[in-house]
Amino acid sequence: MRLPPPLQFHCSRDRISKLCAFASARLCVKFHNVIAQPTPENIRRAVALLRDGQCVGMPTETVYGLAGDALNPAALARIFAIKNRPFFDPLIVHVAEGFALEHIVKKIPPPAWTLMASFWPGPLTLLFPKREMVPDLATAGLPTVAVRCPAHPVAQALLRECGGPLAAPSANKFGRLSPTSAAAVAAELGAEVPLTLDGGPCRVGIESTILAARDDGIFLLRAGGVALEELEKIVGKIEVSGGGAVTAPGMLKSHYAPRTPLARLSAPWPAGAELPPDTALLAWRGFAGADRRRARVLAPEGKAAAAAARLFQDLRELDALGVKQILCEPVPARGLGRAINDRLARAAVGVADCPGVGAFIAGGGESVKAPSRPHCQRRG
Ligand code: TXA
Ligand code: MG
Repeated sequence: MRLPPPLQFHCSRDRISKLCAFASARLCVKFHNVIAQPTPENIRRAVALLRDGQCVGMPTETVYGLAGDALNPAALARIFAIKNRPFFDPLIVHVAEGFALEHIVKKIPPPAWTLMASFWPGPLTLLFPKREMVPDLATAGLPTVAVRCPAHPVAQALLRECGGPLAAPSANKFGRLSPTSAAAVAAELGAEVPLTLDGGPCRVGIESTILAARDDGIFLLRAGGVALEELEKIVGKIEVSGGGAVTAPGMLKSHYAPRTPLARLSAPWPAGAELPPDTALLAWRGFAGADRRRARVLAPEGKAAAAAARLFQDLRELDALGVKQILCEPVPARGLGRAINDRLARAAVGVADCPGVGAFIAGGGESVKAPSRPHCQRRG
């Protein structure tokens, strides 16, 4: 590994606060966020920044990441500071194909070998007991580290050139929509990141699936870019309950949210009904109303993979319309539909009334009744 050796680091709250205050102070230096083509020269530039403890925007096949040296606590503190991310939310560590995982993890349980053989490189993150050299800041003090080997060729080129692991959460402010293009990273993090490598639009469009593959079973911590059905074909039953002791601190109820309040409908929008003023619709198969500008259709052909790939971009576009609320239609809970529902449930907030049918929009990620009369007012 060619990244600088890790500093000795112990995760006292005091130490974390000091590091983050330091990282925030350094953030006073504003950058001009350069979107760079992934030429060998620009990849070397990105690596020079990473070695200097800076962060860069990295394309992956799921969403763009905000990458920093996973073994450098100051770089990790910088990631948290840029994202305004709470320290109890651990990061995913990214490795190149062929990276010797034993450097950073203590043990690789047998089902993890099977999963890696079938799904790496790809949108699958696995939890392992961490070695000392992985800073506690990366794992929020947890004894496990989440590791992923991304399939995107630019991410792989960057990881290879670095020679060491890179921590990379999605490159958005905490709780907001994940970026699926270099332009979205620049718009979201602007002057706080000096360089983003442009790897084009993300193929999968939704974050990785996270599993804990332990001796006592395999547990789903986050539905994501690899469907549960695909995983179970290879390793058998996966517990979706989270596995008791297994916790995912990042799995907060409110997450992945547009600025505009978003509410989930319990049934499709009535065919041919017009949208109320100041309302946008995230439709599943289609929208037959007149004002198409305020609607996006996730899956015109009913394909969940295509819907996942456009989910965050569509939400970002609806968010930019300046409407007062976004409604979204139900998504079939099969394949990647599960991950889409998970993101929509966490993004959903706010309460609205639909005159004639009573209150129909519930907060906290619950689904809501579709209006029989399409005149909805947001209540709070
Ligand atoms: O596709 C992805 O996974 C993207 C790309 C950039 O790789 N990354 C991503 O990172 O989604 P982030 O930070 O937005 O989500 C990471 C989540 C955390 O919120 C937490 O739920 C989970 O991973 N996580 C990380 N380490 C964990 C651990 N040791 N135990 C439980 N959950 C962990
Ligand atoms: Mg994220």
